[in-house]
Formats: sequence, C-alpha cells, structure tokens
Amino acid sequence: CGIIGYIGGQPALEVALAGLRRLEYRGYDSAGVAVVVDGGLRTLRRAGKLANLEKALAESETSPRGTVGIGHTRWATHGGPTDTNAHPHTDCTGAIAVIHNGIIENFASLRAGLERDGHELASETDTEIVAHLLEDELAAVSAPDGTAGAGAAGAARTAEGAETAGASRLTEAFRRVCRRLEGAFTLVVVHRDHPDVVVGARRNSPLVVGVGADETFLASDVAAFIAHTRSAVEIGQDQIVEARRDGVTITDFAGNPVEGRPYHVDWDASAAEKGGHPYFMLKEISEQPTALADTLRGRLSNDAEIVLDEERLSAQDFRDVDKVFIVACGTAYHAGLIAKYAIEHWTRLPCEVEMASEFRYRDPVLDRSTLVVAISQSGETLDTLMAVKHAREQKARVLAICNTNGSTIPRESDAVLYTRCGPEVGVASTKTFLGQVAACLLVGLYLAQVRGVLYGDEVARYVEKLQAMPALVRQTLATIEPMRALARTLADARAVLFLGRHVGYPVALEGALKLKELAYMHAEGFPAGELKHGPIALVEEGLPVVVVVPSPRGRSHLHSKIVSNIQEVRARGARTIVIAEEGDTVVEPYAEHLIRVPATPTLFAPLVTTLPLQVFACELALARGLDVDQPRNLAKSVTVE
Ligand code: G6P
Repeated sequence: CGIIGYIGGQPALEVALAGLRRLEYRGYDSAGVAVVVDGGLRTLRRAGKLANLEKALAESETSPRGTVGIGHTRWATHGGPTDTNAHPHTDCTGAIAVIHNGIIENFASLRAGLERDGHELASETDTEIVAHLLEDELAAVSAPDGTAGAGAAGAARTAEGAETAGASRLTEAFRRVCRRLEGAFTLVVVHRDHPDVVVGARRNSPLVVGVGADETFLASDVAAFIAHTRSAVEIGQDQIVEARRDGVTITDFAGNPVEGRPYHVDWDASAAEKGGHPYFMLKEISEQPTALADTLRGRLSNDAEIVLDEERLSAQDFRDVDKVFIVACGTAYHAGLIAKYAIEHWTRLPCEVEMASEFRYRDPVLDRSTLVVAISQSGETLDTLMAVKHAREQKARVLAICNTNGSTIPRESDAVLYTRCGPEVGVASTKTFLGQVAACLLVGLYLAQVRGVLYGDEVARYVEKLQAMPALVRQTLATIEPMRALARTLADARAVLFLGRHVGYPVALEGALKLKELAYMHAEGFPAGELKHGPIALVEEGLPVVVVVPSPRGRSHLHSKIVSNIQEVRARGARTIVIAEEGDTVVEPYAEHLIRVPATPTLFAPLVTTLPLQVFACELALARGLDVDQPRNLAKSVTVE
C-alpha cells in the first residue's frame, strides 16, 4: 500500500493526492484521504484506482481545505476492495483517522475485545481496530487519575504548553497501541483535536520522513515527496515518529528518544515522470542502457579491479565464504538464477538460489562462512526481508543488492550494493532487472578476485567486456523493433511457451513472468532440455514458442542441442520465435520469426536477450488493451508475507 502524511503550509489534500499518484504502483484497488479542517476531520474513500477518488472529490461540493492530512492507496489483504474497506479508517467518535500498510496478525483477538467493549466496526479490515484501540488508549492517557503513561507524555504535561502536552498524549497513546500489535505495519494517524501533529509508526514495513521548509512528510517511500524536498530521515524498526511543521521527534515503542538517520535523496523528481512516453514501462525499457551504465559506474577501477565501495564486509570476510545463497522474489529471483551460473563458474563456490518466501521455512544450512545475497529493487519486499533476518540470526553474512536508498533490506544487511537505476514506477521490473544482473556479475567477479580464483588479467578481460555492455543494450533496443509488430499479431494466442538453456533458461522464466503479469496470459518458461520430459505435451498446432538461443561460439554444444529442441516443437506445429545472436545462420531455417541480438560473452547474454521478451510482453498487453504500468492484482512493493 502507498502511504502519505503531510503537515505544513500547503493544502494537504493536493499534496496527498500528488503523493498518491507517485505511490500508486504500491497498490491500486482503492484509495482515500483524510484532512483535518477547523476542529473536524473530512474523510473520503473510493474503491478502484486513484482516479475514482479524484473524480469523487471533483464532484463533491466542497473539497476539504486544511494543511494537515493523510492519503492512502491500497493493495487489499483483509477484506475486498470496497469503499468501506478503503483507508483511512476512523474510530467511533470520528476524531481519529488511520492509514496502514502491512498485516496485523493478532487482529482477530483485538477486534473481539473491542466488540466486547461496545465498539462498532464498520469494515472487514485489520486496520480499523487501530483507530478504535487508539480511541481507548487516548481516553486512558488523558484520564485525570494519572493513568497516563510514563515517558514523553508525562514529561510533556508538566514541562510544556497544553497543546504540546495534547500532541504528546496522542503519541503516547499511539505507542501503547503499537505495543499491542503483532505482525508488520506502517501506520499513520491524524486526530481532529491535535492539528499540530501527524504521528507514524513502523515495524517490518517502510516509513520515511521528508523534511521540508516548515513542512514535514511521512511516506512509504521518497517518491511521494521528492517534488517538495530531497531531505529524508530513515525511521528504524519499532519506532514512532511525531511529525510537526518544524520537524520530527522519534522514539522507540517504549518511549525512549532515538536519532533518525538523515540522508539526501539523489533521485531527480523528473525521473519519476513519464517524459513523453505513454507508459512508465516503455520509458523504463528505453532507459536500460543508462541504468546499466549507472550500475557499473565507478565500480571498475583503472587497473581493472572490481570495486565494491559501499560494502561493510571486509575482503577477508569474502575470502572466508564457502557457500553462497541468493534469495529474492519475482523478477529479482530470476536475476539471482542468472547469477548462479556466473558465481559458480568464476568462483568455484557452491551457489544456491531460492525464492525468499521459502527460504527461512525450510531451515537452510547457514553459518558465518555463508554469504547470502538478497536481491530486491524496492528493498522492502517482506519475504526477502524475513529471509535476510533469518540469515543474520544464523550468523550468515548478508549482502543486499538494492535500488532504493534508505529502504529496509540494506539497513538490515551487513553490506549493500546499490543498482542506481533511478526510480522504477512500472509494476513489472525492467531496467532494475538489468541493474540486478549487472550487480550480481560484479559480486561474482569480486568474489573471484579477492579469493584469487580469477587472475588480474582474466578479471580485466571480463571488466572490459562488461563495460561494453551498455552500448550493446542500446543497439539491442534498435534491432528488436520487429518484436513489437509480431507481438501485436499474437494478441489472441491462448498461451506462450518460453525455452532456454544455461543462462537463457532464467531469461525464459523472466519472459514468461512478464507475459503473465502484463498480458494475463498463460505462459511458462522451461529449460529446453526438459521439454521432452513433459512440457512438449503442451505443444499443439499454432502455439507460439519463444526460444532463447545461446551463442554458437564458445558453448556450441548448447547451441546444437537447442537447435534440435526448436525442430522438435516445430515438428509438432509450434510457431517458433527465435532470439539469436547476429550472424547465427544455423538457426535461420528453423525460425518462423527471427529476432537478432548482438553477440556477447555467454554469461552477459541475459543483458541483451531479456529485452525482446520485455518488449514482447509489453506490446502484447497493449494490443489486448491492458494497462502495463498497473496490472491487475499486483503491486510493485509487496510488504506482506
Ligand atoms: C513484486 C513485483 C515484481 C518484483 C517482486 C520483487 O512481486 O510485482 O515485479 O519482481 O515484487 O520485488 P523487489 O522490490 O524485492 O525486487
């Protein structure tokens, strides 16, 4: 879900809506806002995309004017995407409005307790209970008998003015609520009677502060406020932030003051605009040469050594590694699968790749000499975060590969390598996948270098070839144009198969995932060699089969095998769409459609062969009249398990 809270001098409604537009990729099945106005609270919520809420606001007689407010865009967990389940949620008195991201796991027992005490809950959500719990806790801390809690509230009542004391009471009551909650949550609250604060909390779910001139923002990520300020503050686990116009006070759930880590957001606000493209996804596909160059920049030294500058692990730590695990989800998992080929080949270390959601539940064998590489564009995917935490509990070293500065996974890891691809808004990853693959290759080369498995001149040769890749990616974008026209002719296909071998196999998986996500088509990726063990039964007359062909040079044994696989599916009526290197004439007779990519070293081929598959899925979805930036049921940052 996307969250924004605002307190300052500007109209809160406009700030919240603009923020939500930038956060909509986090969830888009309903949206809502609440604004504090003259001793009252105006709330409006609508099922469906943000546009529905904007329409309702445009049609309402008076739009709420006020400079304190919150906004939310939802990805449903508890309760379907209806107006009633949309956030913000309010308490019985209508004084409190709450927005939430995450899942409150003990919500059933808390809800039962509230209902026993006479609270009437209107929605099916886990969030609504927070408003009601806060109503009760606020009554308790405000009671004249001194039941007010210790810490900030007590101190504020004696030492500061009445309004500050009131605000601090809200914060203290909120802290008490948070201590009763289990699960993962980002919560942001406004109160009708406390217009001088917006209060937020986080546990295992993202929350960042934006500090402007006489205005403060609380948001799920910096995209929500970079149009206003680039000064951000990181909020740690189990912390509460009280935001005022002039700054923030951060405490832990026990009320102890803590320092937030301030940082500068170097993303350009215009980078999160479409820049003339009809969809973010098309823009992000076209940005891949730059994204790749940015990931590599400064990491290849003049004497051709790999430099991992942000690491907090020593070269000795890397020398001590005897096994590598890669954990990730979705597209990032496919980047990890590619990395396995490179890491094992270069370092001779065993490398396992695992979906983060499975990792910790099967009790993997980890110890201090295990290196766990966690790949995540957002740095917030809860499955990956939990895998990281599990790995660290087991004393493994964790290196994060991430695109988002200030996010949780890098913070919870021993070291981080940022992919520096700039903000990615389209829900289906494209440019950050290339960044992730490149970062993994750097990690593989670095490991091989510090462990002395590859010699200087060998590393130098790879480095030189890696440096040439952004130009080849640019060239690929030009040569794969025919893929667009081809995709449009296949809009009515029932299913598509993707085949690959070696690093082409994860590329096939990624091609299939893209097609599922964007075009809602049945698509499967298989290792081409596995075809004869089952998938070939799916092949029927006219079925499009996309084949990622390895280079005929170097690993030619793979090439001849895949050519046989193409013939096998053709013999059964498949329409073959072949992605092959320039100059590969052997495949020509077997390809109904042939898409050319530039020649690259084998292990770098995914940096070019993925591109036609991205374009294929994107164009096919557009031909089916679908929104490629916001595919149904998905969200870009999945902060629930
Ligand atoms: C979601 C997105 C995918 C993404 C995955 C992992 O499922 O829809 O596109 O690959 O999360 O996201 P991460 O931010 O951890 O890379």
